[in-house]
Amino acid sequence: MIQGSKADFPFFAEHLQEGRPVVYLDNAATTQKPYPVIDAVRRYLTESVANPHRGAYQLSGEATSRYEAARSRVAAFLNATSSDTVVFTKNATDSLNLVAESYGRRHVGEGDEIIISIAEHHSNLLPWQRLAQENGALLKYVYLDETGMFDMEQFRQALTDRTKIVAVTQVSNVTGIEFPVAEIVRASHDAGAVVVVDAAQSAPHIPIDVQALGADFLAFSGHKLYGPDGAGVLYGATCLLQDMPPISVGGGIVEEVTERTVRYMDPPLRFEAGTPNVEAAVGLHAALDYVDAVGFSRIRRQEQELTGYLVRTLQAIPGVSLYGGTEGVARHGVVSFNVGSVHPHDVATILDSQGVAIRAGHHCAQPLLNFLGIRFCCRASLSFMNTKEDIDALSDAIISVGRWFDGSA
Ligand code: ALA
Repeated sequence: MIQGSKADFPFFAEHLQEGRPVVYLDNAATTQKPYPVIDAVRRYLTESVANPHRGAYQLSGEATSRYEAARSRVAAFLNATSSDTVVFTKNATDSLNLVAESYGRRHVGEGDEIIISIAEHHSNLLPWQRLAQENGALLKYVYLDETGMFDMEQFRQALTDRTKIVAVTQVSNVTGIEFPVAEIVRASHDAGAVVVVDAAQSAPHIPIDVQALGADFLAFSGHKLYGPDGAGVLYGATCLLQDMPPISVGGGIVEEVTERTVRYMDPPLRFEAGTPNVEAAVGLHAALDYVDAVGFSRIRRQEQELTGYLVRTLQAIPGVSLYGGTEGVARHGVVSFNVGSVHPHDVATILDSQGVAIRAGHHCAQPLLNFLGIRFCCRASLSFMNTKEDIDALSDAIISVGRWFDGSA
């Protein structure tokens, strides 16, 4: 029976730190796994392991069915028109690299332009930086306005008839702020550009409808959505995927190979060379069922309430500075901060000693931190299953940081 709370996650009962469950506030990095996901992977591994798409025996057929059922489940989750638009990858990083290396290399040339936002995770920055450098294109950045929001006006001015690709995150992994992706897509399409959406931080929090968004490509990671590691997804519009060469080549992706030639399969299998990660796909399938059973309206309600409480709690602690957003912008459970001039790694270590897990560092978003005028920060990131008590524990632990540094701890 699904509770939509920590009771669904064995981690909190099984992993005790100094006799207590961990206050886990690093959900933007990865999520704990609920029972249905663990059970589904366990069932697959104990009952029906075989190599899919390769065997004529019944068991291989079953593995194929489970793997392809997971693909259809992802398509339904994204409201995609066909499961052929869903490519399984290792993670969102892998998905974004695939687009840059396959679509990008073919369609971006000398003098063309790629636009990204300053808020991109390195995963949605470095593939475009490298492509631009190697193909002689111009990489343009759109900065944030004073509220932390993607500056639409600046973006419209940056778009030209040379813009080939616009790549944006839907939700920042540092500020949690949601960018107006549907509006970005409309403006980009009017300019003839293809849009790549990094949904790694949005897919766990809001329903994604690729048709309503109009995204050409969209990437997310199953492990941030209560699924296993290694369950990455690339959604791609069929007409674009059809025209893309595989990057990784090998077994399982060909119609015919001769000594000198190859004819590849259609997408999505064309992009999945080698034995696929069936247990990751099976686990992702169960994770999407789990998320739907909890329901996005409940997820959103709980997370919005917790986010407001987290922001207010942090704002009330003397010496704590919050980054990246103001009231009134859509924000999804990710809050970055510093505690006086204490190095974030020290803050995180002291918090850890009190059983509170947060991330500290540059969050793989160095250009954004530079734009915000900092090098490092702490980040607390929520899931619907967190509680106000978790945030109170975070607050108590942060208050104790001051005592460590004034010698009174
Ligand atoms: N991309 C993950 C994060 O932002 C790891 O924490």
